Amino acid sequence: MEKTYSDALVFFGATGDLAYKQIFPALQGLTRAGRLDMPVIGVAKSGWDLAQFRARARDSLEKHGGIDEAVFAQLCERLQYIDGDYRDPETYKQLRSALGAAQRPLHYLAIPPSMFETVAQGLSQYACLDGARVVVEKPFGRDLESAQALNKTLHQYFPESAIFRIDHYLGKEPVLNLLFFRFANTFLEPIWNRNFVANVQITMAEEFGVMGRGRFYEEVGAIRDVVQNHMLQVTALLAMEAPSRQDVEAMRDQKVVLLKAIRPLEPQNVIRGQYQGYRQEDGVAPDSKVETFAALKLYIDNWRWAGVPFYIRAGKCLATTTTEVMVELKRPPQAVFGKLEPDDPNHLRFRLSPDVLIGLGARTKTPGEQMVGPEIELIARQHWPEAKPPYQRLLGDALRGDPTLFTRQDGVEAAWRVVEPVLKADLPLYEYTSGSWGPAEADKLIARSGGWDNPQPTPPPGDGGGEG
Ligand code: BG6
Repeated sequence: MEKTYSDALVFFGATGDLAYKQIFPALQGLTRAGRLDMPVIGVAKSGWDLAQFRARARDSLEKHGGIDEAVFAQLCERLQYIDGDYRDPETYKQLRSALGAAQRPLHYLAIPPSMFETVAQGLSQYACLDGARVVVEKPFGRDLESAQALNKTLHQYFPESAIFRIDHYLGKEPVLNLLFFRFANTFLEPIWNRNFVANVQITMAEEFGVMGRGRFYEEVGAIRDVVQNHMLQVTALLAMEAPSRQDVEAMRDQKVVLLKAIRPLEPQNVIRGQYQGYRQEDGVAPDSKVETFAALKLYIDNWRWAGVPFYIRAGKCLATTTTEVMVELKRPPQAVFGKLEPDDPNHLRFRLSPDVLIGLGARTKTPGEQMVGPEIELIARQHWPEAKPPYQRLLGDALRGDPTLFTRQDGVEAAWRVVEPVLKADLPLYEYTSGSWGPAEADKLIARSGGWDNPQPTPPPGDGGGEG
């Protein structure tokens, strides 16, 4: 393996939810790819032994992506478990000995940010930090000030080049495809601006509720959980300028320039909602004011996007589980054929999940004497059965020391600046029914742009439209 490749992987919070759902499947994938020939050490305080830890890994794989017995056996050989309190020096002594000859460990902190300093201090006192890299989970802080404080803490122990702030949306193939589609084609660029784009809508809808994560969710809410990070990252990839170099920082530089151009949210442009029944969830306060839905209107104050509204909507217990970007184009300058019915504008649609497709909405003539015709959608459907799950992709990148798909501190701060005004404002909270599209107030926010485009199930191939 190359010299800068990490030579051990340590994950704190090893018995938690994230490890269960994402990290074990990623570890199995990395083992299969031959990228994890090193000690893999889980650390947590659950009173478990190694056999229980391995059983948890097996269970995780059975539920999330499937187990490959031969690969799992290899992973199990490398797997170690330290049952220790993060405040106890003994934990770090054991870790140092488990690391053996490893010189460049990657530490994954899948733990609450309030524990970062304690763990980093423990690692430094027991010689586990030399040549080390660290991966930290989102949300990075609770607001701008706490993000800056957290960063200061991490920088006491790690240089910026060793800090990998993970946002798993950046490891998703369909999200990266947005960037590719924009900059690997020429036809889009002339229309990708305020002269042709009427508005942009990004919907991240989830049919399910907080699914046992009530306690965590009470601390964050939809804006901190997914808007400040996943949704603003998607916005940045959609709207940024092309990187002018191919080095690692060029893309991150352009993303940060874009994030800095987003006007901080004005409270009147944000609608917060809470699904009925949220207050009865485990770990949720009976009078909770935490939002499980947010709809917002953003403006990007730059030459390309001035005046174009970007609408973002994200929520739990909505009508479907789908993430989609809809770019609505302006209407032709003159109604050459009279008013067309229905009066839908042309569009580009990027379905990011659960299926992946790009749709181009265009109008074609219906055979007959009249110059009329509906809008059809040309669909490019993409099947990526071999796509790596985002955590596998990103953990692999962190092990190699490639920061391209991780968020940089200036980007994290710029994103906090966007949402900060509404975190501090005491905004109304509207109730909505499970299975709906959120509170009716969210419709008013977008009324001037003709309403939300609610993602619909994709028709099977060949079923109408103009599939390509
Ligand atoms: C996580 C949020 O970051 O992203 C969850 O904490 C959310 O609340 C999840 O459900 C969505 O991720 P994905 O990959 O399923 O779209």
